[in-house]
Amino acid sequence: MPQMPDSEPQSVAQVREGLGQVGYLADEAAALVSFLAQRLGKPVLVEGPAGVGKTELAKALSRSTGRRLVRLQCYEGLDEAKALYEWNYRKQLLRIQAEASGEAEAAAEGSWERTRGDIFSEDFLFTRPLLEAISAEDAVVLLIDEIDKTDQEFEAMLLELLSDFQITIPELGRIEARTHPVVLLTSNNSRELTEALKRRCLYLWLDYPSVERELEIVRLHAPELDEAMAHRLVEIVHMIRALDLKKPPSIAESIDWARTLLLVGADDIDRETFEQSMSILVKHRSDIDLVAERVSVKLEGDGVPGGFPGAPPRSPGS
Ligand SMILES: Nc1ncnc2c1ncn2[C@@H]1O[C@H](COP(=O)(O)OP(=O)(O)OP(=O)(O)O)[C@@H](O)[C@H]1O
Ligand SMILES: [Mg+2]
Repeated sequence: MPQMPDSEPQSVAQVREGLGQVGYLADEAAALVSFLAQRLGKPVLVEGPAGVGKTELAKALSRSTGRRLVRLQCYEGLDEAKALYEWNYRKQLLRIQAEASGEAEAAAEGSWERTRGDIFSEDFLFTRPLLEAISAEDAVVLLIDEIDKTDQEFEAMLLELLSDFQITIPELGRIEARTHPVVLLTSNNSRELTEALKRRCLYLWLDYPSVERELEIVRLHAPELDEAMAHRLVEIVHMIRALDLKKPPSIAESIDWARTLLLVGADDIDRETFEQSMSILVKHRSDIDLVAERVSVKLEGDGVPGGFPGAPPRSPGS
């Protein structure tokens, strides 16, 4: 089995702190699974709605551990040639041609055998992300992003890598991981993944955060935003998420909204500010209508969704 690097974390708290230092506020479950991924050397499958920090967790792990990030972005139709490796046919052909012209008169015995051995060597290989992660000399985090976009055959192809940390290339044989990569797979749940894949992974469900955690995240990404404003912003976002929307706003949208409010110099979130900027939060026509109807009105009314301390009561139309 490949060796784990020396710098293994000693506790969940240490992992959590490390992630915090590179700007990722992990909850207990995320910190635990990140710890286990490193200690047990098992891949992690991270599922959850869009924009809750699945991809960012892998990036943050890479930053906090100093491991290089190798990323495979999945899409429909992704195949081995783009994910694993591909023979460089053009280079192989040139090699064969060079050989043929150089040895035309000699016609040495066994020359084809030699050429064949040559052209099916690593020099003639395009290394794609999965092979790159497995053959890396340095420690890496391998992010297989949005695995649900691929098909089941692709998942099946991954099984050897996920359970044995090795890849078999028919012409070259087995390539084993030199340094055990930390592997994270993310999925938006657009299709059910196979049991075989799930069995090989630790599992993390990332959901929308609590008000307190989201407030911390927003403050981290937009530190100039006034505390009361940030609080109000997060409460409004949570209120919107409670509606039955096609696409509820994610953490990414909360952060964008906070930055937008800073840029336009808003000092309060009143109805007008909200209506002008709500397309940052909701991005479907029907959602916009619903939010305008339900939330804008509330902002004009008592002004305080859920109520936050210290806010003066608002007069209608202010
Ligand atoms: N716990 C967190 N701490 C700090 N920032 C976070 C956290 N969670 C999410 N973010 C921020 O939220 C944004 C969205 O995160 P990310 O892109 O990882 O979402 P995702 O779950 O991969 O979404 P998608 O499914 O659309 O790919 C990022 O800018 C990230 O910085
Ligand atoms: Mg993502």
